[in-house]
This record gives sequence, C-alpha cells and structure tokens, in this order.
Amino acid sequence: MAMGYSDAVMDHFINPRNVGKMDNADGVGEVGNARCGDIMKIYLRVEEGVITDVKFNTFGCASAIATSSMATELIKGKPIADALKLTNQAVVDALDGLPSVKIHCSVLAEEAIKAAVKDYYDRHGVEYDAELFAGLGEEHEEAPEE
Ligand code: FES
Repeated sequence: MAMGYSDAVMDHFINPRNVGKMDNADGVGEVGNARCGDIMKIYLRVEEGVITDVKFNTFGCASAIATSSMATELIKGKPIADALKLTNQAVVDALDGLPSVKIHCSVLAEEAIKAAVKDYYDRHGVEYDAELFAGLGEEHEEAPEE
C-alpha cells in the first residue's frame, strides 16, 4: 500500500482500463470537479439499451483515474439504466476504499457517467425523469461552508 491507497487503487491507477476516446459515441459526458478543477470525460457505446463499450479521459489525480477505471468496468455490459444506479460509494467499495481526503475525486466518475447517460437519452429521444439528473452540472463543494 502506498500513501494509504489499496492494492486495487494502485492497480487501476497504474494500469487503467478503458482509457481513450471513442469516435461516434452514443453518449458523452464531461464534468469538472469544483474542488480541484480536474476534468473527466466519459464516452458510451449503447446497443439495444446495453452499454457495450465505454472509454474515459481525465485530467485528474490518481484517485480520479482509479475510480474512473473501476467505474467503467462496473458499467460495461450492463443495461444503461443500471449505470445510473452506480454510486461513487459502490466504486470506492470495489476499490477497497480511498483515503477520506480523496473521496471527492470518486464523484467525478459517477457524475461523468450520469452526464453521458443523459446525453444518450437526449440524443435518442428517450423520456426520463429529470429528477434522475438533479444536481448534475451544478458547482458543488463538499466541504462545509465556514
Ligand atoms: Fe482532483 Fe482528485 S484531486 S480529482
């Protein structure tokens, strides 16, 4: 373990899965982390309602890379509606935890996936409950205001 990172985090950071761009993606989501300014972009390929491929690019830290890598693995091959249920906590759990100061980094992956699903729904005329995406794209700060 280095600096409190689990072996799974180190593995996904050093050897991230699904890195890259995707031409003609069916859904693209890009979000920024208000706290550190890092950026995450996720691309989805959707066939008959199932995510058949997913790629990500990030200007982010090790934790952002590891959580995005794990998140893409968790949604690949799943129905698109299931991707919306993926929480940053589930991704963190799958990585055997993150140092608490890095939890905010894991939010990037969850939000980028949600943004990509919304883009897919918007482009393909899929009706959805706006509540599903409430808060997406809003600047938010996790630290309590002083
Ligand atoms: Fe920015 Fe981790 S420090 S995403």
